[in-house]
Amino acid sequence: MKKLKFFIKTFGCIQNTADSERIKAFYWNKGYEEIDNWKKSDLVIINTCIIRESAENRVYGLINLINQWNKKTSFTKATDGQVKIIVTGCLAGLAHKDKTGKKLNQLKRDFPEVSEFLPIEKISFKLDPIRDKKDLALIPISFGCSNFCSYCIVPFARGPELSKPMEEILKEVDEVIKNGFKEVLLIGQNVNSYGADFNDETEVSMGKKRFKSSFHKLLEEVAKKDLQKVSFVSSNPWDFSDELIETIAKYSNIDRLLHLPFQAGDDEVLKKMNRGYTSKEYINLIKKIRDKVPNVRFSTDIIIGFPGEDEKAFQNTVKLCKKAKFEIAYVNKYSPRKGTVSAKLYKDEIPQSEKKRRWRILDDLINKKN
Ligand code: 5AD
Ligand code: SF4
Repeated sequence: MKKLKFFIKTFGCIQNTADSERIKAFYWNKGYEEIDNWKKSDLVIINTCIIRESAENRVYGLINLINQWNKKTSFTKATDGQVKIIVTGCLAGLAHKDKTGKKLNQLKRDFPEVSEFLPIEKISFKLDPIRDKKDLALIPISFGCSNFCSYCIVPFARGPELSKPMEEILKEVDEVIKNGFKEVLLIGQNVNSYGADFNDETEVSMGKKRFKSSFHKLLEEVAKKDLQKVSFVSSNPWDFSDELIETIAKYSNIDRLLHLPFQAGDDEVLKKMNRGYTSKEYINLIKKIRDKVPNVRFSTDIIIGFPGEDEKAFQNTVKLCKKAKFEIAYVNKYSPRKGTVSAKLYKDEIPQSEKKRRWRILDDLINKKN
């Protein structure tokens, strides 16, 4: 019998890329095979990102494109020859987590051609992933986020942070080493708070009481193994403990390029973002890491045009960038996301042209300096 074929399109962050490797295993196990041309597939799986409006619109664009194709070919194909659409990832997650059911109903009304909005949790992550890369293994260590930065949709789409048991992660690392991998990337929305959801012990970090993370312990166990490079994304400043810095310093196979998003360099804006640190605390952390870890480099995420970011506030971000000397920055134009605190409380008042100007200044300063 002819095997059914699926095509998968992955939008968004590395977490989605890692999820897609598991989704692929799920469909291979169901008897499908993967192809790289969606027009020839029976099933298109769209692993979605909704972090900004532009990302969400790209998802709708693809759904509409497939719908048009199905309409165009409907005369030449039997109904069962049409391309079926499954939507998973953050858009499906957001819809299913809305307990009123409104969001899901709205999506079903807007996109009746989508067969299913499949929450990622329904796909078993116990399956062995079909890994895309041959040298670098993606290893998710936690799911979701409990931070609720005021602009961010992730906690609504993925739910609260849930860490995987350490033994399970280490078993996966052993498995990939056995299969010849030399590099691993540990992934979590807030990777360095790993374990804060199962630890009872608390500590004060950047002025706030928090549950202690076990990330440094996990990282040490992974770094001890026969690996050339161990990286991790994405870290938050408040969970970057002294123990973590010591662990990085101790193992030369831990990546010296650290991704440490700071989002904004102005204290008022940081407060409105619910980031829980000041620009000074961030810079002090960078200094502390540089002191303890020779040759360390930094990359970061920045949001420009957050409500209330006037020229002075923006210049504080520029100043912070000059002090921190990032190697790479992902500069994002603020996009209000329905349901988040910042979308509820503040007007998206900074014009697109001004966001563009600020974006260019930071991109030139950090990413075009060579
Ligand atoms: N608007 C713009 N950028 C955002 N990010 C998260 N939410 C938003 C938003 N509403 C950015 C942050 C985060 C990265 C993954 O995306 O910089 O670190
Ligand atoms: Fe979003 Fe903040 Fe969680 Fe990152 S830490 S996923 S920006 S809420």
